[in-house]
Amino acid sequence: MSPGKLAVIFGLGVAAGFIIKIGDPLDSWYPVWRETGLLARAVVCLIAGGSLFTLGWLHGFLFGPLELLRGPDDVGYIVENGRSKAQAANEVRRRRRTGDLPPVYPNGWYRVLDSRMLRRGEVRSVTVLGEQVAVFRGQDGEAYVVDAYCPHLGANLAVGGQVVGNCIECPFHGWQFRGTDGKCVKIPYAEKVPEFAKVRIWPSCELNGQVLVWFHCDGEDPQWLVPEQQEITTGEWVYRGRTEHFINAHIQEIPENAADIAHLGHLHTPAIVSGVDLRCTNSKTWEFLRHDWKVQWEPEAEPNKHCSQMLVKHALTVFGSTWHLLDVCVLARQIKHLLNCTSTQEN
Ligand code: FES
Ligand SMILES: [Fe+2]
Repeated sequence: MSPGKLAVIFGLGVAAGFIIKIGDPLDSWYPVWRETGLLARAVVCLIAGGSLFTLGWLHGFLFGPLELLRGPDDVGYIVENGRSKAQAANEVRRRRRTGDLPPVYPNGWYRVLDSRMLRRGEVRSVTVLGEQVAVFRGQDGEAYVVDAYCPHLGANLAVGGQVVGNCIECPFHGWQFRGTDGKCVKIPYAEKVPEFAKVRIWPSCELNGQVLVWFHCDGEDPQWLVPEQQEITTGEWVYRGRTEHFINAHIQEIPENAADIAHLGHLHTPAIVSGVDLRCTNSKTWEFLRHDWKVQWEPEAEPNKHCSQMLVKHALTVFGSTWHLLDVCVLARQIKHLLNCTSTQEN
């Protein structure tokens, strides 16, 4: 049960107890309650419940991780000609269809889940790189990633599947597949398990609070490993929340955009709506507000040639003078398709 609901129940209980108490003829408030009757008591209950619900919500808002989740149509679509943003998003998606070619993904490591989302003995259904996978955590604490669809008759292992030891058991006929190599180790109604009974496993690893899978277009094994980010391991950096955008773009375009430092000074210098609706980028209305960017980007040396670092310094000017309170200095480390950032405020 959520803390908000618990708070409401607690509040109503306290109010009810209070009202029962003042039902006592010896209580000094007794005449007031006798006059105002049931309605006033109901109002007290509602106010008590509502106040505690608000307090619970405020506590979550102020002290819980900030999770800002955005839908595919939240950013980047223009509402015009009576179309909704969702319709505009759908139209773009339709235009991007290019026939029967399979989607092409760059070789590398991809995040499938945050570690905290997968408890021991739990299984989750995840769509990654156009494929459906089942991610489960065995009783040994390891996270395993396998194709979602059972090689027997195609049930989705992640929907109703059970974790048994370090295997995933199919909800349909109960076949059990080992997380380490995908091999079927048990068929409940058969004495022998055929050698070929196997589900495809995805090379995976777990570090810095994320479960990652390796993808290679020719099915080759991992050719490099993701370096550990020490600040996360030691607890120097902690999770404070995220913004999540669903967008219609090829996956390669996002890391490329992160390395495209030239557009910052041009596209993101005008303030407020810049970058969301490009027609307003150079709006005269907001000319008094400007962002100033200084950016450096460079790849790291061996053995981390798949990583790069970007140093971004940002200042905001209002009517030509800099507001130092809003100076931001960010060092971002990009690991192929993963991104770790640290930021400091400079005065
Ligand atoms: S479909 Fe999975 S065991 Fe039959
Ligand atoms: Fe940008």
